[in-house]
Amino acid sequence: MKVIIVALALVAVAAGAAVEYEPPKILRSEYDQTPQGGYNFGFETENGISRIETGEPKEVLDADNKPQVVVAVRGSYTYTDKEGNVVTVNYSADENGFKAEGPSIPKPVRR
Ligand SMILES: *[C@@H]1O[C@H](CO)[C@@H](O)[C@H](O)[C@H]1NC(C)=O
Repeated sequence: MKVIIVALALVAVAAGAAVEYEPPKILRSEYDQTPQGGYNFGFETENGISRIETGEPKEVLDADNKPQVVVAVRGSYTYTDKEGNVVTVNYSADENGFKAEGPSIPKPVRR
């Protein structure tokens, strides 16, 4: 019985060690917004992940030619992939949809 209890205790310790996870430290983190609905934020972690994004309210005409306010978003994120390459993606989102750009993003086929 003692042997089983010791074995179970060892398994528990090993399992505890396996799930221990130290999240990367945040080196920088900023956030700001305007009463009109604009914002910007950015952060950077010690393991090379960073992201910045801005949102700007802007008036556009909808399908019925009525003015509507949308938030035009632009941003960028960077990380290091499994092979050690630093990958950066720029993106935007507005009344024309979402677009992402970077060497890791396949280019759409133009016809
Ligand atoms: C992202 O945008 C910046 C600023 O316009 C540009 O210098 C950079 O080359 C762009 N990177 C990618 C991956 O498109």
